[in-house]
Amino acid sequence: MIIDVQDLTKRYGGLLAVDKVNFAVEQGEIFGFLGPNGAGKTTCLEMMEGLRKPDGGQVLLKGISVWPNPGKVKNLIGVQLQSTSFYEELTVKEILVLFASLYNRRLSEGQLESLLSMAGLEEKRNAYTNTLSGGQKQRLAIITALVNEPEIIFLDEPTTGLDPQARRRSWEIIRELQGKGKTIILTTHYMEEAENLCARVAIIDQGKIVAIDQPQKLIEQLGKKAKISFASSRPLESVFLAQLGAEAGQVSSAEGQVLFASDPAQTIGVLLEKAKQEGIVIHNLHVSSPSLDDVFLGLTGKELRD
Ligand SMILES: Nc1ncnc2c1ncn2[C@@H]1O[C@H](COP(=O)(O)OP(=O)(O)OP(=O)(O)O)[C@@H](O)[C@H]1O
Ligand SMILES: [Mg+2]
Repeated sequence: MIIDVQDLTKRYGGLLAVDKVNFAVEQGEIFGFLGPNGAGKTTCLEMMEGLRKPDGGQVLLKGISVWPNPGKVKNLIGVQLQSTSFYEELTVKEILVLFASLYNRRLSEGQLESLLSMAGLEEKRNAYTNTLSGGQKQRLAIITALVNEPEIIFLDEPTTGLDPQARRRSWEIIRELQGKGKTIILTTHYMEEAENLCARVAIIDQGKIVAIDQPQKLIEQLGKKAKISFASSRPLESVFLAQLGAEAGQVSSAEGQVLFASDPAQTIGVLLEKAKQEGIVIHNLHVSSPSLDDVFLGLTGKELRD
C-alpha cells in the first residue's frame, strides 16, 4: 500500500467536512473519489497533499507521514488542483519550466518534449496560456503535476467541464501514467469516468465514505435488484410505497420516482393496482439494470450532480 489514510478528519467551524475517512491505495492503482458538490473530496485530497492541515488522523505516503512536515513528501507527489489559473503572459513551455523550478529542477529538452507530447500540446509550446482551449488547459494542468517525476499523482476533477472527446483524451493520459507505474488518485462527478478508469472507487457523501470497492462490485451489490422508474400524476405517499414490497428501497430522482426491487414484476403489479385504487396515473414506467449512478442514488438518496 503506497497510500494509507487513517481517521482523517477536518472541521470548518461547526461543519465536519471530512469525518474519519479511512482507506488505502496500492502502488500502480487508479483510485477514484466520487461524490457530489461539497462532499469533502477536495478537502480530503488537500490534506493528503500537505496543503491543508487535518484536525485529526494521519496520511502515510510510502510510509512517510505527511503531517506535521509536509515538505518530506513534496518530491514524491504531483498535484493538480481543482482550479488552476496560469500566468497569462507565459507560454506553455515557460509554465512548465517555471513549475519545474519550484522543485529546483531544470527540464531537459527531452523531458519537455515528452510532457508536451503526452498532453498533445507539441504545437502549442509557444502559445500563451490564455489562448488555450478548456481541454488544452486541463491537460497542461495535468502535465504541470508531472514536472518533478512524482510517484503519486493527485488529480482533482481532471475532466470537469470537458466535452466527451476531450475527456477521453485526458483518460488516455491518465492511463499512460498508470502504464508507467504511477499511482493516481482522482476525484470526479462522472460515473463513467470512475467506471472506465478506476480500479476502485470510494463514494463519499457529507464527509464520510459510504462505500468503497471496484466499480463493478458496487454495481453488482445493487445488480441483483432491478431499477423501476416512473412518474406519477400525484406524489406517492410513503405508506403507499412501503406496501410495494419489502425489497423496494424508495428514492426520488430527476427521473421521477425510483424503486429498487428484487421481484420487479410483483412490485409493478402492486404499484399499478394501488395507483388505480387511489386514482393516480402512472406513466413513463421503465425497468432497467442499475448503473454506478444508481448505486450512488441508492446509497445516498441523492444524484451525483446537482
Ligand atoms: N476553506 C473553507 N472554509 C470553510 N468551509 C469550507 C472551506 N473549504 C471547503 N469548505 C466546505 O467544506 C465542505 C467540503 O468542501 P470540498 O471543497 O472539500 O468539497 P468537494 O467534494 O471537493 O466539492 P466539489 O465537488 O464542489 O469540488 C463544503 O461544505 C464546503 O463548503
Ligand atoms: Mg472539490
